[in-house]
Amino acid sequence: MKWVSQDMLPAILMQTVESVVRRRAVSIRRGGINRAMSHHLFQPLQLGSLHLANRILIAPMCQYSAEEGSATDWHLIHLGHLALSGAGLLTLEATAVSARGRISPGDLGLYSDENEAALARVVGAVRKHSPIPLAIQLSHAGRKGSSRAPWDGGAQIRPDQAGGWKTEAPSARPHSPDEEPPEALDRAGMQRIRDDFARAARRAARIGLDGIELHGAHGYLLHQFLSPLANARTDEYGGSLENRMRFPLEVFDAVRGAFPSDKPVWMRISATDWVPDGWDIDGTLALSKVLKTRGCAAIHVSSGGVSPLQAIKLGPGYQVPFAQRVKAEVGLPTFAVGLITEPEQAEAIIAEGEADAVSLARAMLYDPRWPWHAAAKLGAQVSAPKQYWRSQPREYKELFSAAKFGQR
Ligand SMILES: Cc1cc2nc3c(=O)[nH]c(=O)nc-3n(C[C@H](O)[C@H](O)[C@H](O)COP(=O)(O)O)c2cc1C
Repeated sequence: MKWVSQDMLPAILMQTVESVVRRRAVSIRRGGINRAMSHHLFQPLQLGSLHLANRILIAPMCQYSAEEGSATDWHLIHLGHLALSGAGLLTLEATAVSARGRISPGDLGLYSDENEAALARVVGAVRKHSPIPLAIQLSHAGRKGSSRAPWDGGAQIRPDQAGGWKTEAPSARPHSPDEEPPEALDRAGMQRIRDDFARAARRAARIGLDGIELHGAHGYLLHQFLSPLANARTDEYGGSLENRMRFPLEVFDAVRGAFPSDKPVWMRISATDWVPDGWDIDGTLALSKVLKTRGCAAIHVSSGGVSPLQAIKLGPGYQVPFAQRVKAEVGLPTFAVGLITEPEQAEAIIAEGEADAVSLARAMLYDPRWPWHAAAKLGAQVSAPKQYWRSQPREYKELFSAAKFGQR
């Protein structure tokens, strides 16, 4: 038998425990028992000074229900109920840094004093009743702006139609051939947009938001700069990978510099365009490595959105392998997103080290108590408002933790 020194025992014990936990997670994923005793999903996560109680994140979701960029009662209701979900983080929808940077006329914005006051009202009300950390996704839609809400078909509103405007982008290439082309940005326009991002970040700080996600995905402005499908510039902001990354990095620096240094700023990236010769995982890894050196706290790894030609290979957790590569090869915390719907699936993603957190969008709209149900299934605990404690099912006597749930 191999001799083992005394001081190696704890390490060996830990390895054994980890391997049991890992095997259990794999067994769960393969459809085995679901009363797992391990719950990596409910372990806390630290992002800079921001403490998340668990690794379930609510992904940003546009509501197309703002007025001139200002949050309405809908946001109070929508964010209010998601704030009671027990998730580790709630990220507010794509929020435009200028009126021209909105996707639709109903987009949330943070470009005026009125916008700031309206959002401060909503955030203040949520804060009174929930300890959930709140982040905001700052965005500029670029050539995908001036569009109808999805329930009105989502098509472009032409500049001469009511409610429409001329969009702006790295190059005068429309998103699809039948659309009005955007105006190609000159250097002054890029500087204006960079300053708009910084101003919006300062407003977010004044409101007391806990983190900023910079929207660099889904075919919006920063992604348009990254992707050779949208960026045909011949200056130092187009052509090589280094050139295409330049403006998104400048915007990141501006936002990072405008937000309190102890609060995290991270970026959402489309890992691939799903189109040959488009933006890809190699570019994503390169960008993430540079972002890491500039103080980026995490990468939220999504995909697609820049071209109607995209051929996405959809399936449960279809974007997780991209998050796994960013985590393994860059070493930044990663958020995996996309068709993560089952607690056991989410648990296995964290247990197997594929990502540091899971981000859920549609599943959270469908079931805003998803984290409660996940905690019940995985044998974990979740914090809930005292007004709801009596709802705890008899078979889950330990479900609701005594952790403080109320005003921060
Ligand atoms: C109603 C709705 C609104 C969305 N709005 C945004 C948004 O504001 N910003 C963004 O980056 N992604 C947005 N998305 C994409 C989601 O954040 C998420 O990446 C996508 O839905 C895949 O995750 P899921 O399978 O959990 O829904 C939205 C998705 C939905 C369903």
